[in-house]
Amino acid sequence: MPISSRMKVSPNDVDLPDLFRQAMSEVALAVHVLSTCGPAGEGAMTASSVCSVSLVPPTLLACVSHSSRMNAKLKENGLACVNTLAVEHIDVAEACANLKGKSGNEELKSSNWVRGDGFSCPFLRSAIFSCEGRIHSVSEVATHTVFFIEVQTIRAGLPQADPLIWHRRGFSSATGC
Ligand SMILES: Cc1cc2nc3c(=O)[nH]c(=O)nc-3n(C[C@H](O)[C@H](O)[C@H](O)COP(=O)(O)O)c2cc1C
Repeated sequence: MPISSRMKVSPNDVDLPDLFRQAMSEVALAVHVLSTCGPAGEGAMTASSVCSVSLVPPTLLACVSHSSRMNAKLKENGLACVNTLAVEHIDVAEACANLKGKSGNEELKSSNWVRGDGFSCPFLRSAIFSCEGRIHSVSEVATHTVFFIEVQTIRAGLPQADPLIWHRRGFSSATGC
């Protein structure tokens, strides 16, 4: 069913989750890769549900599906790094979403990823920026866990780069107009 600005919606006459999915696909979102490391091992996943929460202390949130392998890893490791992607990182986004046959763990073995330089988790060398911190709390909401990450380390990799955008179920650029 197409989205109409005049459509009246009640839970009884439409498939509400389907309509919600369509509505959310109209929202343009920046694309990030969450990386982690620790006792549960390294991991990486593509995530668009990332946003800033607080400036002092610097805090981000990320929503991660219970069905994702990264969910348990993040909880056990207690550490996450948000790597914000540029348009040139479509391959990284696809790998870390387990699209096109490559996995996040395979992607982490590539030379795109650096260990050290003040970070505990692997970070993407050419990310627009990478923000790493401790997971100070989580909140379980239906199918997802909301992770609150208190940022302790920030690195600007490509601060002037064109950000990678997820919009209408596809990748695009933010500076196309
Ligand atoms: C652009 C894009 C954004 C995504 N955002 C999220 C997200 O915010 N949260 C989430 O749980 N999954 C998100 N996904 C799906 C995960 O990246 C995907 O399920 C991945 O396979 C999880 O990997 P894992 O099971 O190895 O942890 C997104 C996928 C794409 C392509």
